[in-house]
Amino acid sequence: MDTLSPSPEAPPSATIGLAPPQLDLSALPPRILRELRASHVGETVAVALYDGVAGATSDPEVLRFAASHRRVERRHLRLFEAVLPPEKRSALLAFWRWSGRVMGGLPAWLGPPYFYAVVAGVEAWVDGHYARQIALARRLAPDPDLLNVLEACRLDERLHARDAARLDPAPPWTARALARLAVFLSRVGVRAARWV
Ligand SMILES: [Fe+2]
Ligand SMILES: [Fe+2]
Repeated sequence: MDTLSPSPEAPPSATIGLAPPQLDLSALPPRILRELRASHVGETVAVALYDGVAGATSDPEVLRFAASHRRVERRHLRLFEAVLPPEKRSALLAFWRWSGRVMGGLPAWLGPPYFYAVVAGVEAWVDGHYARQIALARRLAPDPDLLNVLEACRLDERLHARDAARLDPAPPWTARALARLAVFLSRVGVRAARWV
Protein backbone atom coordinates (compact mmCIF):
# COMPACT_ATOMS: atom_id res chain seq x y z
CA MET A 1 0.00 0.00 0.00
CA ASP A 2 1.22 3.51 -0.79
CA THR A 3 1.38 5.08 2.66
CA LEU A 4 1.58 8.57 1.18
CA SER A 5 -1.80 8.40 -0.57
CA PRO A 6 -4.17 10.59 1.45
CA SER A 7 -7.48 9.03 2.30
CA PRO A 8 -10.09 11.01 4.20
CA GLU A 9 -11.84 7.75 5.10
CA ALA A 10 -9.02 6.07 7.00
CA PRO A 11 -5.54 7.53 6.72
CA PRO A 12 -2.98 4.77 6.93
CA SER A 13 -0.42 4.99 9.68
CA ALA A 14 3.28 4.34 9.34
CA THR A 15 3.21 3.29 13.01
CA ILE A 16 1.24 0.11 12.28
CA GLY A 17 3.30 -2.86 13.45
CA LEU A 18 5.79 -0.73 15.38
CA ALA A 19 6.61 -1.79 18.92
CA PRO A 20 7.29 0.96 21.45
CA PRO A 21 11.01 1.42 22.04
CA GLN A 22 12.38 -0.12 25.22
CA LEU A 23 14.40 2.78 26.56
CA ASP A 24 16.44 3.01 29.72
CA LEU A 25 15.16 6.42 30.76
CA SER A 26 17.84 6.84 33.42
CA ALA A 27 20.49 6.62 30.70
CA LEU A 28 18.81 9.09 28.35
CA PRO A 29 20.17 12.63 28.08
CA PRO A 30 17.80 15.07 29.84
CA ARG A 31 17.34 16.91 26.56
CA ILE A 32 15.90 13.80 24.92
CA LEU A 33 13.63 13.18 27.91
CA ARG A 34 12.33 16.72 27.57
CA GLU A 35 11.68 16.14 23.87
CA LEU A 36 9.78 12.94 24.60
CA ARG A 37 7.67 14.79 27.16
CA ALA A 38 6.94 17.50 24.60
CA SER A 39 5.90 14.93 22.00
CA HIS A 40 3.72 13.12 24.54
CA VAL A 41 2.00 16.46 25.16
CA GLY A 42 1.74 17.11 21.41
CA GLU A 43 0.01 13.80 20.79
CA THR A 44 -2.27 14.37 23.80
CA VAL A 45 -3.27 17.70 22.27
CA ALA A 46 -3.79 16.05 18.87
CA VAL A 47 -6.25 13.48 20.27
CA ALA A 48 -8.06 16.21 22.25
CA LEU A 49 -8.19 18.44 19.15
CA TYR A 50 -10.24 15.81 17.34
CA ASP A 51 -12.35 15.18 20.45
CA GLY A 52 -13.16 18.89 20.43
CA VAL A 53 -14.60 18.64 16.93
CA ALA A 54 -17.41 16.26 17.85
CA GLY A 55 -19.67 18.76 19.62
CA ALA A 56 -18.68 21.76 17.48
CA THR A 57 -19.89 20.86 14.00
CA SER A 58 -22.40 18.72 12.16
CA ASP A 59 -20.46 18.79 8.88
CA PRO A 60 -20.21 15.10 7.92
CA GLU A 61 -16.89 15.45 6.10
CA VAL A 62 -15.26 17.25 9.04
CA LEU A 63 -16.63 14.64 11.46
CA ARG A 64 -15.38 11.77 9.30
CA PHE A 65 -11.97 13.42 8.93
CA ALA A 66 -11.74 14.00 12.69
CA ALA A 67 -12.74 10.44 13.58
CA SER A 68 -10.26 8.82 11.19
CA HIS A 69 -7.38 11.14 12.10
CA ARG A 70 -8.11 10.69 15.80
CA ARG A 71 -7.45 6.95 15.43
CA VAL A 72 -3.94 7.65 14.12
CA GLU A 73 -3.22 10.26 16.82
CA ARG A 74 -4.33 7.74 19.43
CA ARG A 75 -1.75 5.29 18.05
CA HIS A 76 0.94 7.98 18.35
CA LEU A 77 -0.13 8.80 21.89
CA ARG A 78 -0.06 5.11 22.92
CA LEU A 79 3.53 4.83 21.69
CA PHE A 80 4.64 7.82 23.78
CA GLU A 81 2.62 6.59 26.77
CA ALA A 82 4.51 3.29 26.52
CA VAL A 83 7.83 5.14 26.57
CA LEU A 84 7.09 7.70 29.30
CA PRO A 85 5.73 6.55 32.69
CA PRO A 86 3.22 8.94 34.29
CA GLU A 87 5.79 10.54 36.60
CA LYS A 88 7.86 11.62 33.59
CA ARG A 89 4.93 13.20 31.77
CA SER A 90 3.88 16.82 31.85
CA ALA A 91 2.19 17.95 35.06
CA LEU A 92 -0.26 20.04 33.04
CA LEU A 93 -2.00 17.32 31.02
CA ALA A 94 -5.50 18.54 31.95
CA PHE A 95 -4.63 21.97 30.63
CA TRP A 96 -3.10 20.56 27.43
CA ARG A 97 -6.24 18.48 26.80
CA TRP A 98 -8.39 21.56 27.27
CA SER A 99 -6.17 23.53 24.85
CA GLY A 100 -6.47 20.75 22.28
CA ARG A 101 -10.24 20.72 22.53
CA VAL A 102 -10.33 24.48 21.94
CA MET A 103 -7.84 24.19 19.08
CA GLY A 104 -10.13 21.69 17.35
CA GLY A 105 -13.53 22.87 18.51
CA LEU A 106 -13.19 26.56 17.67
CA PRO A 107 -12.15 26.19 14.01
CA ALA A 108 -14.65 23.35 13.48
CA TRP A 109 -17.37 25.62 14.84
CA LEU A 110 -16.26 28.46 12.54
CA GLY A 111 -16.52 26.17 9.52
CA PRO A 112 -14.66 23.60 7.40
CA PRO A 113 -12.19 26.10 5.81
CA TYR A 114 -11.05 27.14 9.32
CA PHE A 115 -10.78 23.57 10.53
CA TYR A 116 -8.80 22.29 7.55
CA ALA A 117 -6.53 25.37 7.55
CA VAL A 118 -5.70 24.90 11.24
CA VAL A 119 -5.07 21.16 10.84
CA ALA A 120 -2.94 21.71 7.72
CA GLY A 121 -0.90 24.45 9.39
CA VAL A 122 -0.37 22.68 12.70
CA GLU A 123 0.40 19.29 11.14
CA ALA A 124 2.93 20.83 8.75
CA TRP A 125 4.59 22.45 11.75
CA VAL A 126 4.53 19.12 13.66
CA ASP A 127 6.27 17.50 10.68
CA GLY A 128 9.16 19.97 11.18
CA HIS A 129 9.04 19.46 14.95
CA TYR A 130 9.58 15.71 14.49
CA ALA A 131 12.32 16.36 11.92
CA ARG A 132 14.23 18.43 14.51
CA GLN A 133 13.66 15.75 17.16
CA ILE A 134 14.93 13.03 14.82
CA ALA A 135 18.10 15.02 14.12
CA LEU A 136 18.61 15.51 17.87
CA ALA A 137 17.94 11.84 18.69
CA ARG A 138 20.40 10.72 16.00
CA ARG A 139 23.07 12.77 17.78
CA LEU A 140 22.24 12.14 21.42
CA ALA A 141 20.26 8.89 21.65
CA PRO A 142 20.45 6.93 18.40
CA ASP A 143 18.17 4.09 19.52
CA PRO A 144 16.86 2.46 16.30
CA ASP A 145 13.39 1.78 17.74
CA LEU A 146 13.04 5.35 19.01
CA LEU A 147 14.12 6.69 15.61
CA ASN A 148 11.61 4.40 13.88
CA VAL A 149 8.78 5.72 16.06
CA LEU A 150 9.74 9.35 15.48
CA GLU A 151 10.12 8.78 11.72
CA ALA A 152 6.76 6.98 11.52
CA CYS A 153 4.97 9.74 13.45
CA ARG A 154 6.59 12.34 11.22
CA LEU A 155 5.43 10.54 8.10
CA ASP A 156 1.87 10.36 9.47
CA GLU A 157 1.83 14.07 10.37
CA ARG A 158 3.00 15.00 6.90
CA LEU A 159 0.18 12.92 5.45
CA HIS A 160 -2.32 14.62 7.78
CA ALA A 161 -1.16 18.05 6.64
CA ARG A 162 -1.57 17.07 2.99
CA ASP A 163 -4.95 15.48 3.67
CA ALA A 164 -6.25 18.70 5.28
CA ALA A 165 -4.71 21.00 2.66
CA ARG A 166 -6.23 18.91 -0.12
CA LEU A 167 -9.73 19.25 1.35
CA ASP A 168 -9.52 23.04 1.26
CA PRO A 169 -6.63 24.17 -0.92
CA ALA A 170 -7.61 27.90 -0.86
CA PRO A 171 -8.80 28.94 2.60
CA PRO A 172 -9.76 32.61 3.19
CA TRP A 173 -7.20 34.88 4.84
CA THR A 174 -9.09 34.75 8.13
CA ALA A 175 -8.67 30.95 8.20
CA ARG A 176 -4.99 31.28 7.32
CA ALA A 177 -4.58 33.82 10.13
CA LEU A 178 -6.24 31.45 12.60
CA ALA A 179 -3.93 28.67 11.40
CA ARG A 180 -0.89 30.90 11.98
CA LEU A 181 -2.13 31.65 15.49
CA ALA A 182 -2.59 27.91 16.14
CA VAL A 183 0.97 27.22 14.93
CA PHE A 184 2.33 30.01 17.12
CA LEU A 185 0.51 28.59 20.17
CA SER A 186 1.75 25.09 19.33
CA ARG A 187 5.31 26.39 19.25
CA VAL A 188 4.87 28.10 22.63
CA GLY A 189 3.12 25.01 24.02
CA VAL A 190 5.92 22.63 23.01
CA ARG A 191 8.51 24.93 24.56
CA ALA A 192 6.56 24.97 27.83
CA ALA A 193 5.95 21.20 27.71
CA ARG A 194 9.68 20.49 27.69
CA TRP A 195 9.85 21.91 31.20
CA VAL A 196 6.47 21.28 32.91
FE1 LIG B 1 0.42 12.66 15.95
FE1 LIG C 1 -1.30 14.26 13.07
